[in-house]
Amino acid sequence: PLDHLNTVWLFGYGSLIYKADFPYLASRPACIYGWQRRFWQGSHDHRGTPEAPGRVVTLVEAAAKRCVGMAYQVTPDTFAHLDQREKNGYLRFFTELHWLDNAGPHSTADSSGIEQGVVYIANPDNAAYLGPAPEADIARQIAESRGPSGPNSEYLLQLAQALRQLNEQDEHVFKLEQLLLDLPQQPIA
Ligand code: BEZ
Repeated sequence: PLDHLNTVWLFGYGSLIYKADFPYLASRPACIYGWQRRFWQGSHDHRGTPEAPGRVVTLVEAAAKRCVGMAYQVTPDTFAHLDQREKNGYLRFFTELHWLDNAGPHSTADSSGIEQGVVYIANPDNAAYLGPAPEADIARQIAESRGPSGPNSEYLLQLAQALRQLNEQDEHVFKLEQLLLDLPQQPIA
């Protein structure tokens, strides 16, 4: 059973937005300031292979930007599960989460609209990091990659769909989605 007295907010900005494969007490749309989502992390364990890595999102510092995602209230043991799942170069850090649903049912529980939360980030110094590339090249790499978790294209398309549901206009993700769908060989996902 979940322990209400010992919980942490976990902020998801990638696959966690559309797939939370762990128990949680609550979920709330949120954003973090000063960060941007980018398909700059290589994936050789989920959406690609060591020989042909796919691309998944990480966060890049961007002073005037914000990153919208979904926060989950979890017990600390959830991090052991996620640390195991995200062996591919992600580290955890604490940052300020800003709720996007403050007019909603939670408004009386948290009047400030801000809470500390945990975020996973892949830095340039991890072995799987790929870094920036032209978006057309990134889209092609995503179209051609697949790994144990499925096609890389499925990850991009599901993320884009989840961001639309959050009403978020993420130019990078939507541009990659468009480029992917415009490729002559359509993804199966
Ligand atoms: C995320 O959705 O926030 C995420 C998922 C896996 C690794 C890092 C971040």
